[in-house]
Amino acid sequence: MPFQPNEIDRDVEGASADTERNAKLFSEVAEAIYSKGYCIVEDALPAKLLKSLSSHAQQLSESQFNLAGVGRGVEHGKHNDIRQDSIAWINGETKAESQWLAWTEVLQDSLNQRLFLGLFSFESHFAHYKAGDFYKKHIDAFRGQSNRKLSLVTYLNEDWSQDNRGELIMFDEKGENEIERVFPKAGTLVVFLSEEVPHEVMPATRDRFSIAGWFRVNNSVGDGVDPPR
Ligand code: OGA
Ligand code: MN
Repeated sequence: MPFQPNEIDRDVEGASADTERNAKLFSEVAEAIYSKGYCIVEDALPAKLLKSLSSHAQQLSESQFNLAGVGRGVEHGKHNDIRQDSIAWINGETKAESQWLAWTEVLQDSLNQRLFLGLFSFESHFAHYKAGDFYKKHIDAFRGQSNRKLSLVTYLNEDWSQDNRGELIMFDEKGENEIERVFPKAGTLVVFLSEEVPHEVMPATRDRFSIAGWFRVNNSVGDGVDPPR
């Protein structure tokens, strides 16, 4: 009988191919962050991870998504003239979520090794934009007021066409000129310096699922100590 690789062999092979692919991707991300402060890569997420995250996001019921707010601490409030998406924080309780956190941890370590960023922790949430929902131009962190260093966004939408709109528009540091326009296609990964890249989410013609996350450094800011969220 010819040799049949068993399940375990296949898994090991798959895992080492993934490791190599990730290593290549993460060095590409580091290089781009270093040279221009942001990075956009299509088909970045490993196929299996993408699949489990998108089915997980779609299975989360509306009750697990909460209307997103704007700002932190006492200033935190719902501003539906600014953003209209609903979010569900990722805490690692399901397999899909823990695989995601494992993947972003390797990304974090690899960026720290290459760029000495001192990234210390990571927080992320699923976001659901219904058709027509938007998030007006904003930055994810104000200089010196936050410990968010790097923002990350990835998309979970199969068969997205440009007619579906829902682009992420990225602007120069002053927020005056558009520098990139990214369609939220499944597997696309965007990483950028949180303090330096104003960005905006355009309304889409269909449901739009993304994950937004932030790598943080461990310093206390303002009057408070390291607010967790
Ligand atoms: C955010 C954000 C972008 C996107 O949640 O802060 O900018 O494309 N998301 O979903
Ligand atoms: Mn943002």
